[in-house]
Amino acid sequence: MKITFYGHNTLLIIIADTKVLVDPFISGNPLSKDKVIIDDIKPDYILLTHAHQDHVLDAEAIAKSNNATIVSNYEIAMYYQNLGIEVHPMNHGGTWNFDFGKVKYVNAVHTSSFADGTYGGQPGGFIIEGEHKTIYIAGDTALTMDMKLIPLSCKLDLAILPIGDNFTMGVDDAIIASDFVDCDKVLGVHYDTFGYIEIDHDEAKRKFFERDKDLMLLDIGASIEL
Ligand code: NI
Ligand code: MN
Repeated sequence: MKITFYGHNTLLIIIADTKVLVDPFISGNPLSKDKVIIDDIKPDYILLTHAHQDHVLDAEAIAKSNNATIVSNYEIAMYYQNLGIEVHPMNHGGTWNFDFGKVKYVNAVHTSSFADGTYGGQPGGFIIEGEHKTIYIAGDTALTMDMKLIPLSCKLDLAILPIGDNFTMGVDDAIIASDFVDCDKVLGVHYDTFGYIEIDHDEAKRKFFERDKDLMLLDIGASIEL
């Protein structure tokens, strides 16, 4: 499994030959819009954690130009189905075996509405299992006790957690979250994109390190292999 960071919560996960794009927000992200060539991504699937603009901005265009299937909660799936896009609706607690691996849509504590005010269901995160690796993408969320349910059913190899604070967990709560999900290897996301969520990278890494945890902060376009 290869994971590439395209800024904010935008991730490309390659499992065998399948490309799974998460929360595409590139054209509106001042940090990534000049670094990432959207047309080169060519995903097979697009997973959306919730309907906020900083997670779905490029989803429609990318889905249409690549015939990609959008996977999200029921309300978001229906929104894109009405635009003529192939979708796979899910809801919280549900798992589906896709051709690339297993996906579970899990709880997040946040909100979810489209930019035009359309109801975007309840926000979520994803647990993705493929090529014998399991990752948790928390999406935008507060620290929540529901995270303690995750290690009851799987052993994570990586937790992808928001750390930017203000709209989501900050670093201190993300450290507790990594305890809750029982995974000391964390990829930080949802930071620096806007003034509200700028963080001190060294301080964040030090705080994780002091708890015997590893916080990775990838440059835009950088990848890790699991
Ligand atoms: Ni959000
Ligand atoms: Mn967000």
